[in-house]
Amino acid sequence: MEPVSKTAYYCAGVRARDAERPAPIVGDKYAKLFLGDDGRAVFERFRHFDRPNASNIARHRIVDDLLRARLLEDNARPVVLLGAGFDSRAFRLTGGRWLELDAAPVISRKDQLLPATRCPNPLERVAVDFSPASLREALTAVRGSGTVTVVIEGVLMYLPPPKVDQLLEVLRKALPRHEIICDLMTERFLTRYSADVHKVLAELGARFEGIEARPLARFLEAGYTVQSRTSIPLRAAELRAMEVSPFILRWFLPSLRDGYAVHALSRGG
Ligand SMILES: C[S@@+](CC[C@H](N)C(=O)[O-])C[C@H]1O[C@@H](n2cnc3c(N)ncnc32)[C@H](O)[C@@H]1O
Repeated sequence: MEPVSKTAYYCAGVRARDAERPAPIVGDKYAKLFLGDDGRAVFERFRHFDRPNASNIARHRIVDDLLRARLLEDNARPVVLLGAGFDSRAFRLTGGRWLELDAAPVISRKDQLLPATRCPNPLERVAVDFSPASLREALTAVRGSGTVTVVIEGVLMYLPPPKVDQLLEVLRKALPRHEIICDLMTERFLTRYSADVHKVLAELGARFEGIEARPLARFLEAGYTVQSRTSIPLRAAELRAMEVSPFILRWFLPSLRDGYAVHALSRGG
């Protein structure tokens, strides 16, 4: 069997370290469960990337907050975690009906270490190979359940643009009413601020193949509208995850402020 995604371990490592801090930003107490020796070895290669790690944890917090707001309004909201990795939101947040999709090795590791049956909220996990057919099939679990929130976190930068279009087409057909919460990074941001971390990711076989000058454009062309847009570095600075003054970042570093953001995108009411 193929190994567990190294990028999933990287993100879990960031959250495990955050959870050990006196004032965590996310406080994911489950993250360290998933790491093991393999995961810790992967995270060691990223431990020193202060700013990318700060963005990673701020990104997770932004998505947590967006989901909490939705679940407060609709306690039974279906949430699909596409490329869920070691996301533990189904266990940490109150409410929601959760569907976690990822490759088989990730799903089986999660099931082994934190079984879905122990989740306080309804949770289904499905192993997919990310082909349109396997995604369509997996999404039938949340079909016809009102507006579905689809979280695609830390995933799109790895997908070549035609794959993103293919994914949007599957979502459009399978879920007539949905919104997407995803992070989008511009080419300029990658070149200026993420080249170092990307070099290590690429060495581990996880190259960013979906980086474009204007990544939002393909979502707008596909009929999505922007409900909210949150700068990840700015939020990291506000949360004091990053040692940059939020004031300086907001007013004098536009390429850092605007190049990497969490978007909530809706279509179909
Ligand atoms: C960087 S990790 C992010 C995991 C999780 N969303 C998080 O934030 O912790 C990327 C995840 O996407 C999964 N993945 C790989 N190929 C994918 C694809 N074509 N579509 C969606 N997810 C994919 C990987 O298995 C991995 O778990």
